[in-house]
Amino acid sequence: MLITSYTRPIRLLHLESSEHDHELVKFALRRSGGTFDVVRAQTLTEFCDQIDTVNFDVILSDYRFADFTAIDAWSEVQELERRPPFILLSQAIGETAAVDALKHGINDYVLKDNLSNLVHVIGRAIEVRDTRLAKARADAELAASQQRMAELTAHLQLSIERERASIAREVHDDIGGALAAMKFDLAWLGRHATDQAARMHISAATEMLQHALGASQRIMRDLRPAVLDQGLVAAIQWMATGFEKRTGIKTTLRAAEKTVNASKEVQLVAYRTAQEALTNISKYAQCSAVNIDVSDHENVLTVEISDNGRGIAKEDLEKPSAFGIKGLHERAKTVGGWIDVSHNEGAGTSVIVSIPLIDPTSTTQY
Ligand SMILES: Nc1ncnc2c1ncn2[C@@H]1O[C@H](COP(=O)(O)OP(=O)(O)OP(=O)(O)O)[C@@H](O)[C@H]1O
Ligand SMILES: [Mg+2]
Repeated sequence: MLITSYTRPIRLLHLESSEHDHELVKFALRRSGGTFDVVRAQTLTEFCDQIDTVNFDVILSDYRFADFTAIDAWSEVQELERRPPFILLSQAIGETAAVDALKHGINDYVLKDNLSNLVHVIGRAIEVRDTRLAKARADAELAASQQRMAELTAHLQLSIERERASIAREVHDDIGGALAAMKFDLAWLGRHATDQAARMHISAATEMLQHALGASQRIMRDLRPAVLDQGLVAAIQWMATGFEKRTGIKTTLRAAEKTVNASKEVQLVAYRTAQEALTNISKYAQCSAVNIDVSDHENVLTVEISDNGRGIAKEDLEKPSAFGIKGLHERAKTVGGWIDVSHNEGAGTSVIVSIPLIDPTSTTQY
């Protein structure tokens, strides 16, 4: 960076006990054409007072003083949140001391008898500092935005599950209730009707009604999965059986235990993962068998869904319009878990969700 391109004076602190050497530095700085606000400190106490009150752009320091060295001054600078670059400006100090200083992280080293180089070194040090600060700012902004994204995902997932649970309740109470009452009435009519044609119509209506009852139960289960009432293993078993029936793909569930000791929230994340993995299998895998493994070994809940199909390609996971697996990653994060997807083309696909079980008692109401 060119010192002259700086739009405001560069605030510089010079830790130097010799008046003569300080004047030489001021002269070199003046000659550079840049503008500097130079402050001098002669003792460590003065130095500490200065860095506590002024936000310097750069510090120059001699190496050896009567009762301290530049390393002591450097340590004081480390306490500051905005650490200005620290440049040693001394007579030759010997190789060991120079190496020691750079090892501590002191930014640069200029010899007093080579002041022509000083302004260039200051410019470079400030540039490095500015880049470091800009990167730290960008990193912090990125972390904050990732955090907001994670919070939003968690909020959306919870809202969706609550909304589903509430629709399920309405289907159950309104539609399910009305259908059950109709079934009762149709049964009564069936017992009392004497006319052959009427009996045939009643029997057809009963069949349709049975179909509607089955559909409303299925919709309810999809909306409010059994995992919330019967636990993860039973719910996945129910889902696997339905999947096998619908698709004809042999589906096997292996679970070490019948129940999983995890919060409802965690179980629901695992359940929705298995659900998305099975949906994907029916859409893309072209496989003949699916294995689902559930385990809570060593306090980590893992559910692995693997097929023996065509395999998932790396590019598939980056498709811009595909949100299933991306959503699973975000969803797993909301409960401190993660997703692994094996992508061995031609060797089937495995989707694994792993969630550390920290506090199985904490649970969210749906
Ligand atoms: N079991 C599988 N076998 C082979 N390919 C798969 C399998 N699962 C997913 N894929 C591939 O990975 C892609 C991404 O899957 P993902 O679930 O993220 O999106 P999608 O199913 O295409 O869309 P969405 O889930 O958003 O409705 C799929 O489009 C498919 O090409
Ligand atoms: Mg999908």
